[in-house]
Amino acid sequence: MTDTPRSDPAKDAAAQAAVKLVKPGMKLGLGTGSTANVFVHRLAERMQEDPFELRCAATSKATAELAQSLGLRVESLDELGWLDLTIDGADEVDPDLNLIKGGGGAHLREKIVARASDRMVVIADPGKVVEQLGRFHLPVEVIPFGWRSTEAQIRRGLDDLGLTERPITLRKREDRVFMTDEGNLILDLALEAIPNAYELAAIFADIPGVVEHGLFLNICHLAIIGREDGTSAELVTEENL
Ligand code: A5P
Repeated sequence: MTDTPRSDPAKDAAAQAAVKLVKPGMKLGLGTGSTANVFVHRLAERMQEDPFELRCAATSKATAELAQSLGLRVESLDELGWLDLTIDGADEVDPDLNLIKGGGGAHLREKIVARASDRMVVIADPGKVVEQLGRFHLPVEVIPFGWRSTEAQIRRGLDDLGLTERPITLRKREDRVFMTDEGNLILDLALEAIPNAYELAAIFADIPGVVEHGLFLNICHLAIIGREDGTSAELVTEENL
């Protein structure tokens, strides 16, 4: 069963505010996860009430299927080329609008789509707002070939940053190894806190078996945080004002 607007009032409030940012003629990136699902439902409702030209690219097979089932026009990112806006959820949002994503294992496609967009807007409930990233596990997508040696290199990199003895777990779902839409594995890093996100990202970039990590640094332009009472607040950084 997918998440609907009735599932969570805070997610719905953020989704409804984000739907207002969608303008006729746009090329739009659709995120993945429960909050993004609510957004897709609300967007489809708006399109039914007041149809207009809108072309969408999805960040996962699951989102593509949901959006198509609700009547939205979904094309590949390559068909659309460049996007005006991407709306997606997040697992954590810090005061600089840096994010952790990938709780649903879609962060590779999510980052490709977000980086191919003029603007990325995150929608989230208040539980996602943190002072410092890292309480949520950090997902790292790795190719299956030699993944244990990739894990060892990640471990060495964490040691170099003083993040010693942090648990690294191969993601499973219902006792089976989780595979991403690209056929890769996910290692979840329980880091507790990430004081040096840019240095950590540089370490990942230097490990050949790492495909992509869930740190979204300097990618998000605006975060809309929904509240249980149906209102929402916007988080922006000074450079985005
Ligand atoms: C998917 O891989 C993730 O990046 C999601 O965007 C993120 O986990 C947020 O998901 P929820 O909206 O379900 O919390």
